Amino acid sequence: MDLTLKIWRQASAGAKGQFVNYQVKNISAEASFLEMLDILNEELVMKGNEEPVAFDHDCREGICGACSLYINGRPHGPDRGITTCQMHMRNFKDGETIVIEPWRAKPFPVIKDLMVDRTAFDEIIQAGGYVSVRTGGTLPDANALPIPKAASDEAMDAASCIGCGACVAACKNASAMLFVSAKVSQLALLPQGKLEARERVQNMVKKMDELGFGNCTNTYACEAECPKEISVTHIARMNREYLSAKITAPQK
Ligand code: SF4
Ligand code: FES
Repeated sequence: MDLTLKIWRQASAGAKGQFVNYQVKNISAEASFLEMLDILNEELVMKGNEEPVAFDHDCREGICGACSLYINGRPHGPDRGITTCQMHMRNFKDGETIVIEPWRAKPFPVIKDLMVDRTAFDEIIQAGGYVSVRTGGTLPDANALPIPKAASDEAMDAASCIGCGACVAACKNASAMLFVSAKVSQLALLPQGKLEARERVQNMVKKMDELGFGNCTNTYACEAECPKEISVTHIARMNREYLSAKITAPQK
């Protein structure tokens, strides 16, 4: 395939960005999207008059959540239920123009070209996305705790969130509710997470708001674009957890 790539180039966080057009030729339909960008970058390096395009990637197998490209107006591109790194060029046609942008959301500032800073997600996790475990003394075996199969299945589904940020990029409000609710749900469904549930949901929601993520207005764009197909039912669970935490919080 011969393709035209319209790529967002931005030298640094404070610099003014712009779209730049590139031509790539003889791209195999079996190449992954990131391999196609590697080919472009090799050509740019060989020519020597322009810096390669900066983009995030790590595992390239859909598990780390690093890859984050907005392709033809959709986070992770046209295919459903997969990350950018898992998408192949057979999703595009010979002669097509592909528009490639970084995630666009205030809490995810651009670092360079297609790379954004997703530290905001780390800060939300630090606010409560964990369980405190005492390591001294004798602990029961993890599998000695009876957990209903339905709850463990649902917790596992929530735990499949890879923190990529596509839900925020897809949302017109830049809401992080799908991400935060997946993390809240995953722990709220299991006995190990129940002890700190009340503080967890309040602290994570507070941090999410502080960082400038918008509110959920039920467009479901997040669920539609999530590469792990996390369900919006987790947002409903988080709202219930939040309400119940507020009602049962000790009065001051
Ligand atoms: S909920 Fe889905 S889209 Fe959002 S961070 Fe997790 S995996 Fe990515
Ligand atoms: S590079 Fe790890 S999920 Fe895409």
